[in-house]
Amino acid sequence: MRNKIKACEEVGIRSLSHYLPANATQKEVIELVRALAADKSVHGILVQLPLPKHLNAKEILAEIPAEKDADGFCAENVGKLTLNDESGTVSCTPYGVMELLKRYGVSLCGKNAVVVGRSNIVGRPMVLLLLNADATVTVCHSKTQGLKDICARADILVSAIGKAKFITADMVKEGAVVIDVGMNRDAAGNLCGDVDFEGVKNKVSLITPVPGGVGPMTIAMLLQNTVTLAERAELC
Ligand code: GUN
Repeated sequence: MRNKIKACEEVGIRSLSHYLPANATQKEVIELVRALAADKSVHGILVQLPLPKHLNAKEILAEIPAEKDADGFCAENVGKLTLNDESGTVSCTPYGVMELLKRYGVSLCGKNAVVVGRSNIVGRPMVLLLLNADATVTVCHSKTQGLKDICARADILVSAIGKAKFITADMVKEGAVVIDVGMNRDAAGNLCGDVDFEGVKNKVSLITPVPGGVGPMTIAMLLQNTVTLAERAELC
C-alpha cells in the first residue's frame, strides 16, 4: 500500500487512504466502500487483500461498482476480460505482465504459454489475457499431474504459485521467457520468487527478477487502470 500511495503522488493522482482497525465489522467496511462509490470525486476504489478472516471479502468487493473497479476484480470486469472485451479494467499483476511482454517485444501469437497458479488475482486473468493475445495456453495448479514436463514445453512460463524457488532449470525450456510473479521468503528469510533465478537465468532468453520485476508493474497498471476509469467517467 505504501508503494501504491507513493506512486500516486509521483504521477499526480490524488489518493485517499482509509485504515480501519483489524476488528472492523463487515457493516463498517461496506459503509465505507458505499460512501466512496457514491463520491463523484473518486474515480477508482481498491480494497487491499487479504482481509481479516472475519470479513466476507466477496461481499465487500461486490460493493465496488464496475466503473470504479481499479483492481479489475468484479464479476463484470472479469466477464469482459473473458469475452475479450477491452472496455473493462484488468487485474493489475497479469496486466503488468502483458505490458512487460509487449515492451520487451515478446510475440505471443501461437506460442505455448504455461501459467502456474489459478488464483482469481493472477492465474485466471493471466490465462485469459494470454489467450486473448492468441497464445496457446495451459494452466497448471497444485493438483496438476506432470507439471514439470508441461512447464518444460513452455515458450512463455508465468509462475504465480507462491512457492520459493519451485521452478528449477530442468523445468524450463532453452530460450524460454520466464515471468516470476512469486513473492516468497527463502530459508534465510530473503525475498525471492517462485523461480530459482540463479539456476535458470543462463538457460532462458528473458527472465524477471524478484524483487524488481513484476512488482513495480502491478503498481504501474493500477495507476493506468485509475486513469482509464477517470477518463471514462469524464466522458460520460
Ligand atoms: N493483494 C495482493 N495483490 C493485490 C492486488 O492486486 N489488489 C488488491 N486489492 N489486493 C492485493
